[in-house]
Amino acid sequence: MTDRISKILPIAIDDAEVLKKVAKEIPLSDIASDFIQQLIVDMFATMRHAPGIGLAAPQIFESIRLIVFYLPAARDELGIGVPDTVLINPIIEKLDDEIDLQYEGCLSIPGLRGKVERFKKIKYSGYNQYGEYFERVAEGWHARLVQHEVDHLNGIVYPELMREEDSLITFDEWKALTAISS
Ligand code: NI
Repeated sequence: MTDRISKILPIAIDDAEVLKKVAKEIPLSDIASDFIQQLIVDMFATMRHAPGIGLAAPQIFESIRLIVFYLPAARDELGIGVPDTVLINPIIEKLDDEIDLQYEGCLSIPGLRGKVERFKKIKYSGYNQYGEYFERVAEGWHARLVQHEVDHLNGIVYPELMREEDSLITFDEWKALTAISS
């Protein structure tokens, strides 16, 4: 993976059709293909360049069930963080009914933030870049991030999930809010 030259891909934004489609499963035999391996390298480069902490394949105009993400320790309530992760054909299961309401953003909806309810604790499973099955339990931001990215595979962007009483705010408004609360 490391000897490949990465490129920054264009990101689908706002009303792009690809963001509204249900993405296709990736046959496990395709994971080792040059196309998927290069796509993974390019998605990490594109995510970091943006910069962001998660990216789903539909956001770079590929309607397939593949997401990449990581979580810096500083943004993880547990203080551990999550290493660079490739998750193919993911399945999410909530582990209890506890809900968390937080602002989130999206590289496909630049400059805005909105409050979204997410399950606080989930289990997710799928395949990594080597075609190996794995599962993890995730909490807090880690769980929110995975739920957000998997929504992209189902044609859902976060403003659709917002409660009626909440509205989108600009990045600057959000910055002002977080400055007050922290
Ligand atoms: Ni997003």
